[in-house]
Amino acid sequence: MMDREKSAWSRSWSGRNLMGTRKAIGESRMTSVFATLRACLLSLALATPAMATDLPDPLTLDDFLQFDPAQAKLGQLLFYDKILSGNRNIACATCHHHDLNSADGVSLGVGEGGSGLGMNRTGGAGADRIEERVPRNAPALWNLGHKDVRFMFHDGRVEVSEDFGNGFRTPAWIFLPEGLNSLLAAQVLFPVGSETEMAGQPGENAIAGAAYDAPHYVWPLISERVREIDAYVPLFTEAFDHVNEASDITIVEIANAIAAFTAIEFRNFDSPFDKYLGGDEDALTAAQKRGMDLFYGEVGCSGCHAGPLMSDQSFRGLGLPPFGPGLTFLNDPIARDVGRMAISDKLEDAYRFRVPFLRNVALTAPYGHNGAMPTLEAMVRHHLNPRESNAKWRSEMAKLPPVPWLASEDFALREKTAENDRILASIDIDLPPVSDAEIADIVAFLHSLTGETALDRPMGRPETVPSGLPVD
Ligand code: HEC
Ligand code: HEC
Repeated sequence: MMDREKSAWSRSWSGRNLMGTRKAIGESRMTSVFATLRACLLSLALATPAMATDLPDPLTLDDFLQFDPAQAKLGQLLFYDKILSGNRNIACATCHHHDLNSADGVSLGVGEGGSGLGMNRTGGAGADRIEERVPRNAPALWNLGHKDVRFMFHDGRVEVSEDFGNGFRTPAWIFLPEGLNSLLAAQVLFPVGSETEMAGQPGENAIAGAAYDAPHYVWPLISERVREIDAYVPLFTEAFDHVNEASDITIVEIANAIAAFTAIEFRNFDSPFDKYLGGDEDALTAAQKRGMDLFYGEVGCSGCHAGPLMSDQSFRGLGLPPFGPGLTFLNDPIARDVGRMAISDKLEDAYRFRVPFLRNVALTAPYGHNGAMPTLEAMVRHHLNPRESNAKWRSEMAKLPPVPWLASEDFALREKTAENDRILASIDIDLPPVSDAEIADIVAFLHSLTGETALDRPMGRPETVPSGLPVD
């Protein structure tokens, strides 16, 4: 049927672009389905403004899961080691780098096949060059070891749940291994099996071939690679009581070590706002304080950005303009990004994305699930008037490392007006009018969420990794 259709498994999380093969299948049918449902989408409740009394309690170390420092030290090496990728050419850190504050500084990143970092990353060359950009913005990893974090990814497809009896609901259903120490550890199992992010194309290496079939076929191949590197073995035996020899190393220990690293390394809550919450009335400037009062009061940002990490972890539509390769999911004839709906299968979740956590947000532009908004001010203005902001948006606002052979596809989704109309029909936000001066105050407040030690991390980037592969 389709020349390169992927299995339901790998499609469900790696988001392969099937636009080319699927567009003939009648977008018009989908359009009418969406038209019928638009009325029901519009009737969704809008965010209710919050009161200034909604200020969260200060964060404390007790709010975070505990991880073992020796496992974290090992995780630091694995996080930077390209050995976890099919073609040994990309590490977790390539897209979540210390120099880019645990993100990659671009709207849509370049996955395996590329080289370099951030805006200087290229799409590679020859047969290994990339076929598409990563379909979503790489989020920063701040404070994800907090005990209240229930969802990973913009669409929440890795989540705390007892649905499958293993503690998590993920695209691997019942096939998730036992013994994962956290949601962060469960998350690790997915980028390694994503064609675009780390695995590569089927035919290029054994991991990519396995990824095509099912996620759980990938994991033993990755642990085998790690086991074979002598320098890793003692690090695992020291960090894990039950690991006595190389053959005891599995994807579970690898994932738990990386989770320990990301949780400890990117735990950071010493911002002026945190000091204010802790009782230091002078921690905020006058503008930041005014911005905070608007955020938690009159303007009602905390209607969604509520709780200790400034997100209620609900899924909402903001009407950001679509671009990039899009994602596909079962039974959808076109590549696009329908957000949470691809996971829940509920139409009321169409084009809804997880409300992001906000600490250190000033350090990790661009913003939104596809990085459409280049600055905090643009993102705030978008919230205040999403339809106007969507209409005024120009492709130059996207921060995309140049990849000449993708130029004709990059903004194809943006040009589909029917798709944009569906996105606009799913907007869940209606905030009161805000003056330019007040916008400046809100942006000042967002800057007060930057930790004093955010740029000074306990472990940082390792100079070398046990595989001997180059470190980005
Ligand atoms: C090619 C770039 C790339 C690589 C490599 C990569 N990631 Fe990501 N990461 C992303 C993108 C993009 C997302 C968001 C995907 C989505 O929401 O669908 C993400 C999401 C995450 C999240 C969820 C954050 C949140 O707030 O929900 C975590 C945690 C994470 N990555 C850790 C890792 C780890 C650990 C590795 C290595 C095993 C890794 N990433 C490799 C790009 C990358
Ligand atoms: C109706 C819920 C809702 C309200 C109210 C809301 N936001 Fe958001 N916010 C979101 C969602 C959802 C996203 C992510 C949208 C996406 O990726 O498509 C977001 C994204 C953001 C981001 C970008 C974060 C990142 O890492 O990309 C910032 C900054 C932000 N909001 C600040 C604010 C401010 C300031 C206000 C008040 C003016 C506000 N939000 C009100 C739901 C809301």
